[in-house]
Order: sequence, then structure tokens, then C-alpha cells
Amino acid sequence: MNYNNILYNTENNITTITINRPKKLNALNQETIKELHEAFKEANADKNTKVIIITGSGEKAFVAGADISEFADFSIEEGTDLAASGQHLLFDFVENLSTPVIAAVNGFALGGGLELAMACHFRVASDNAKMGLPEVSLGVIPGYGGTQRLPQLIGKGRAMELIMTASMIDANQALGFGLVNHVTTQDELLPLCEKIAGKILRNSSVAITSAIKAINANFKDGINGFQTEITEFGNCFGTDDFYEGTTAFLEKRKADFPGE
Ligand code: COA
Repeated sequence: MNYNNILYNTENNITTITINRPKKLNALNQETIKELHEAFKEANADKNTKVIIITGSGEKAFVAGADISEFADFSIEEGTDLAASGQHLLFDFVENLSTPVIAAVNGFALGGGLELAMACHFRVASDNAKMGLPEVSLGVIPGYGGTQRLPQLIGKGRAMELIMTASMIDANQALGFGLVNHVTTQDELLPLCEKIAGKILRNSSVAITSAIKAINANFKDGINGFQTEITEFGNCFGTDDFYEGTTAFLEKRKADFPGE
């Protein structure tokens, strides 16, 4: 598929999606959100894609937020729809994808940009990255899941302070808060993400999908995560990957997972 605002590339079972509006610091307009939905859907359906990396183009920004020029004159109803459709199309969609998604945070990740990074399964940042949810400085609040995912990741008190002050934190503070898992140089950011992806690729993609579901269940209202774990654990016993993984172990060889 052709995209206007993103670059899409698959190599060695890794699909890299690059948000490509560098002049606007990769701000998320509605067209980009829809294209990202399609790109994530395409990658998730592609049997050759086992890990997805999302990043921003240019040296300055991952994503500097939702595109402010698009919603500055919105009504209450339009604002409500904006948050609901964005959460549905992109942020919840990414979090619940069956393929692992790594955010390579290569610069500013503000507002919707940090919310997108937080919807990914985990984050790696370059040392120039700056992160924050500055929405209250615009008279609005985070609407793409930021008030929920930030406290999940860094704790309620820190999230309250970061959101109320509209401050930015740098990559090392984000590392200390557990918001990102690793910090590296800008040049090494994609290579490091690919190295981590390489470790994921060695394992059973079917089991990884089950693990994503079970971990996510911990954060869903009305769902018993322990019960989801039991169900997903049991389901693994019916897969070819489980047969291959256990047989390979007993035969003292490396598993060659069929991914089924
Ligand atoms: N929405 C729309 N456009 C944005 C944007 C956003 N969230 N963030 C940056 N841009 C645009 C700027 O308007 C500017 O466009 P122009 O060249 O046509 O005027 C361009 O991207 C470059 O941004 P600029 O502000 O000139 O860069 P800077 O280096 O001086 O500042 C930031 C960088 C990230 C600090 C600043 O752009 C900023 O504060 N952006 C908004 C962050 C925000 O509040 N995000 C949450 C939105 S809910």
C-alpha cells in the first residue's frame, strides 16, 4: 500500500514504520493516524513480519503531538470524537496488536507522540529525546490514553506531576522512571531496536502473542489477568511451536519455530 505520511519497510522479519512529516515534527494529523492504522494492520497480517518498530523521520522528533492546527476550533462533540476515534484506530489498536511493537523514540515525543510510544509494547530512546504530555498548557488534557498509560508506566504521583506541570523529561529521566527501557545515541537507536527484535525473533511468535494478551489483561477493567494467563498458557499446548520448542530442547538442538 502507498502512504503519504509514512514510510514502510520490511527486512529480516522486521517492519519499520517511519512517520514522515519532519517539517511538522511528525505531528499526528488525522490522515497520518488513519495511515498508521492501515500500516499496523498490514504489518500484523504479514506472516513475514514478526516485530514492528515505529520511529519518526529526521533528527529532531519522534512525534511532537497531535496536529494542533486540526483541532484548534473543535466543539465538545468534535473533541470527544477526536479522542474516541484516535484511541480506537491507533492507540488501543497498537497496544492490542498480536505482533510486538517497539517504539524507537528518536527525539521529541510530546502529547500524542508520547501517547503513541506508550501504546507500543516497550520503548527505546535516543539520548536527545524529550518526553512529556503538555496538553494542559493548551487548555486540554491528554486524549489518546495518556492519563491512563502514563500512571501505569511511571506511577500515579509522577504522572500527576508531569501532566500538571506540562514539563518535559529527558531520556535519562525517562529511563529512571521506567518509561523507556534503554537509552542510546541517535545513530545506535535503530540498530539497538533491531538487536532486541533479533532476540524476539528467535522465540515462538505464537507464544509471544499469548504473552502480550496475558500482560495486557492485567490493565483491562473487568478482566481477570490470572485467568487470561491460564487460558493462554493452556492454548500454547495445542500449537506446533510448543511441540517444536519442547522437542528441540529434549533433542538438544535450536528450535526452528513454524510460527503456528
Ligand atoms: N501540531 C502541529 N504542528 C506542530 C506541532 C503540533 N503538535 N508541533 C510542531 N509543529 C510544527 C510547528 O508549528 C512548526 O511549523 P511551521 O514551521 O509551519 O511553523 C514546525 O512544526 C516546527 O516546530 P517549531 O515549533 O518551529 O520547532 P521548535 O524546535 O521551535 O520547537 C517543540 C519544538 C516540540 C518544542 C514545539 O514545536 C512544540 O511545542 N510543539 C507542540 C508540542 C505540543 O504541545 N504537543 C501536544 C499537542 S496536543
